[in-house]
Amino acid sequence: MSLRKRGKTYVGLCPFHAEKTPSFTVSDDRQAFYCFGCGVGGSVFDFLMRVRNLTFAEAAKELADRYGIHLPEAPETPVQKRARELADLLCEVNEAAAAYFHRVLLEDPAAGPARDYLRRRDMGPEIIREFRLGYAPARWDGCRRQLLGKRISLQVAVQAGLLAQKTEGEVYDRFRNRLMFPIRDLAGRVVGFGGRALDETLPKYLNSPESPVFHKGRILYGLPVAREACRKEGEVLVVEGYFDLLALHGRGIRHVVAPLGTALTVQHVRLLARLAPRAVVVFDGDEAGMRAALRSLELFLREKLPARLLKLPDGMDPDDFVGQRGKDAFLQLLAEARPLFEVFLEESLVDYDGSIAGKVRSVRKVAPFLKLVDSRVEQESYLQLLTRRLGVSEEVLRQELGLVGAPETEWGRRHAEKRDDTRVPAMEEVVARILIHYPSGIPLLAEAGILDEFEGQEWRELGRLLEKHYRTGGILDLGGLLVELTSEDLRRRVSSWSLEENPWSEENASLRLREYIEGIKGRKGRRLDDLRRLQHEIRIAEEKRDEARLGELLARKAALVARRVRGKANLTKGEME
Ligand code: UTP
Ligand code: MN
Repeated sequence: MSLRKRGKTYVGLCPFHAEKTPSFTVSDDRQAFYCFGCGVGGSVFDFLMRVRNLTFAEAAKELADRYGIHLPEAPETPVQKRARELADLLCEVNEAAAAYFHRVLLEDPAAGPARDYLRRRDMGPEIIREFRLGYAPARWDGCRRQLLGKRISLQVAVQAGLLAQKTEGEVYDRFRNRLMFPIRDLAGRVVGFGGRALDETLPKYLNSPESPVFHKGRILYGLPVAREACRKEGEVLVVEGYFDLLALHGRGIRHVVAPLGTALTVQHVRLLARLAPRAVVVFDGDEAGMRAALRSLELFLREKLPARLLKLPDGMDPDDFVGQRGKDAFLQLLAEARPLFEVFLEESLVDYDGSIAGKVRSVRKVAPFLKLVDSRVEQESYLQLLTRRLGVSEEVLRQELGLVGAPETEWGRRHAEKRDDTRVPAMEEVVARILIHYPSGIPLLAEAGILDEFEGQEWRELGRLLEKHYRTGGILDLGGLLVELTSEDLRRRVSSWSLEENPWSEENASLRLREYIEGIKGRKGRRLDDLRRLQHEIRIAEEKRDEARLGELLARKAALVARRVRGKANLTKGEME
């Protein structure tokens, strides 16, 4: 990537979207990047995470290694520490079990039928090794004994879902006579298993139960292996099953992941977006597969991840397809895969009968989705498609689209409450944005107690970090701030503000800041009595078992009570005199 210097910043072509004129902006002294074309931005860590598909920890380590920096460990609260230790333990147990299952598959005479099965399904030794496939023997104490021999706590194995508990103290293998697929997270840790029955036992596939490290809605099969390939291909394929993924791998198609028998979730789609800038959903050509693919459309639109749909012939999964028709036929279908949205439009118009009522119905159905289409160009081309198919003028269509209210989709309704909660508080946004341009205003607001009074948890964090990273002399350590800011959305916004042309004159900025100080003070005054509010927050923290927060609140309460007592004492003294 090459950048040109322009004023105080560097600009170049954005590596995250296709563009001809450079809108990707990097600032050395602000230590941030932002693309004014696609809205991607953040710290140097965000950049590395995106370009190289790294986790935050990996990006931090890479930078530290490169520049010989010692990274200060982020202070861990006691709750976080306990959670991390448990997660480490669970992954260790899973790792030990994966090694055991793998060895049994390769060496144990009892695994003969499993090896035959894999041979029949065309799974060669490389695949077995790379994915560490295994076999859980048809007995109740294979895994249990193995773990005992390794002095692994059976209690932890129960929590990892490897063992099941009958009565107190009586535990047995959950996976029996099953082909085992270890499931790894992006960092390569074994977080759970899928096990395919080798006989008629139901369910056909048994997955590890949910655990602190295993959430089916947040994990995909094949992540660590697909990661590198996805980066090369600039695309990620999503298939439905373990064997579908392995069959494609066997034929050199490696940029593939699979959910674990659940519908795609928003977390899945975010994970996909980290793997590649484009996705292809590969689904069975039957109706159920089609419906599942279209249900995911809204998630892809909201997460702004362009997605195409690869439709297989009816009743065939990718494994069947490449088995019967071969790799090239599959690549041909991949090349022909059409945008998911286009397929959705066609499907929505299938039972359009030409009536006026039909027109209205069709428009109403697609409007909420059309509004989510991010690119103007794309939106335009879909509008034209609708115009042609429905025989309405584009103008009428636009009007109709304008008439239909806020996105009324299922996802939208389910998240309406949550979205309301994270609604941008206008005041906070303007104040923060001014402070990015005029950091010398930070002490003023800090003293007025405004920064930790921001409404909304994310904004309060930003307020605190502004104060923390302010250096005397009117300097803001924006790089440090961005690294600590947890909300991706805010990192993006802060980066864009830091690189935008300053919209405020100095007088204007200070005027606005003073206005806001007054405004927020007024808001504070209208609030409940401080002590009652604290009491309320303490109750919430107790409910959530958020010990760190609770400690903080109790300390605040103690301070407040002490202040009041002192206040009263002064008063009494005054009265006495
Ligand atoms: P399918 O039933 O389509 O099976 O399940 P498949 O992948 O073609 O498997 P084979 O070829 O018969 O071995 C698709 C995916 O749904 C999940 C699994 O992740 C599976 O790969 N699934 C299926 C379950 O989680 N549980 C089940 O009982 C069945
Ligand atoms: Mn199959």
